[in-house]
Amino acid sequence: MAVSETHLAIDRERSRQRIADAVAHLTGPAHTRSERAICRYAYTPEYRATLDWFIARLGELGFDTWEDPVGTLVAQNVPPGTPVLALGSHCDSNRNGGPWDGTLGVVIALEVCRLASEHGLDLPLRLISFLEEEGSGFGQMLLGSRICAHRVEEADLRERFRAIDDGRPFFEHAEEAGYEPARWKEAAGVLDDISAWVECHIEQGRVLQDASEQVGVIEAIAGYVHGDIEIAGRDDHAGATPMGMRVDALSVAAEVALELERLARDAGHGTVATIGEVEVEPGVINVVPGRVRVSLDVRGTHEPAFRGVVRDVARFASEAAARRGATASFGERQSVPATAMDPALVDALDRAAREAGAAYRRMPSGAAHDTMCVADRAPCGMVFVPCRDGISHAPDEEADPADAAVAAEIVLNALARLHGG
Ligand code: HGY
Ligand code: MN
Ligand code: MN
Repeated sequence: MAVSETHLAIDRERSRQRIADAVAHLTGPAHTRSERAICRYAYTPEYRATLDWFIARLGELGFDTWEDPVGTLVAQNVPPGTPVLALGSHCDSNRNGGPWDGTLGVVIALEVCRLASEHGLDLPLRLISFLEEEGSGFGQMLLGSRICAHRVEEADLRERFRAIDDGRPFFEHAEEAGYEPARWKEAAGVLDDISAWVECHIEQGRVLQDASEQVGVIEAIAGYVHGDIEIAGRDDHAGATPMGMRVDALSVAAEVALELERLARDAGHGTVATIGEVEVEPGVINVVPGRVRVSLDVRGTHEPAFRGVVRDVARFASEAAARRGATASFGERQSVPATAMDPALVDALDRAAREAGAAYRRMPSGAAHDTMCVADRAPCGMVFVPCRDGISHAPDEEADPADAAVAAEIVLNALARLHGG
């Protein structure tokens, strides 16, 4: 049945229930390495179980499913080479993750595939679940979609990108999991033939909740720089070393943390900066720390502003270290530019949200998403649903599957209309 000009209304209660059941199932013990949070990442049994669950559901819909040489999950209902409408997200989690971040986007994509089939819409669909969006396995966010977009080098995969758990290279872990990382360049094929891509995701902020709105249509995604500042001081006896003789690496780190906050606030344009990881060595109560590593996560939609913060805090760290007889160096892990969504797709999603009668707004995304890499190769759009109090990257992350059902109706209509021309 071709989609008529009018909006196709779905049975939202049925979709709500199916989405709720799927998310609940994927919080089970087989799908997380933690008793406290959702914790699953590449090449672990829990991640494998989650991929297998999606593969089974997609097989029931008659989709062909496969994984690319590093483990990106792809499912399609038309032969390879056919132009497709693509949708998905990621089903790995933050190490301190909740049930909805990423996984909800793949569940909604599955629901849209199901709805298209139930409503007899003849849509060419591809579902993608990207590997390692959170970077929980190798400390590299958006790793899977960056591989598909060829935004990494082979040396990174063979050498630089190492597992947080055991320090071994990405290549080794991928091979042990049965993949063929030497063929990683073929992952670009995941992004071939895509005429439109839509990712659904929880907002992870509280704009929608505070405005009592159900849906966000995303216009742009904040860019980011990830890096580390290594500070080298001197291990000393905590009791016998006078304050004036210390080269305390943690005191330098403390100055850096406060300066980073000041720089981000002063940068404006919604720039944000976070130190999420702090490594202190030797990490013993009665030793002045001789080495500290702090991570940097600096983001914004205004490139000069957020890259300026990185530049200035790196310079500050060197100067603050020198004042204490220490040294500090900044190393970038990765960066992804601020990414605008495709205007025509944004308009199509906006129209579908309006016709669905949803309380919605157009907005930016402060969080990063795989869509930023898909945008290298295809027109992209994103749809947000609220999560309670904006809580995310935390076990008590919560969203309402009824909002997700509305998002599924919106995506179905937008894609069908784009396909129908
Ligand atoms: O941190 C992020 O922006 C994403 O949730 N991984
Ligand atoms: Mn996510
Ligand atoms: Mn996340």
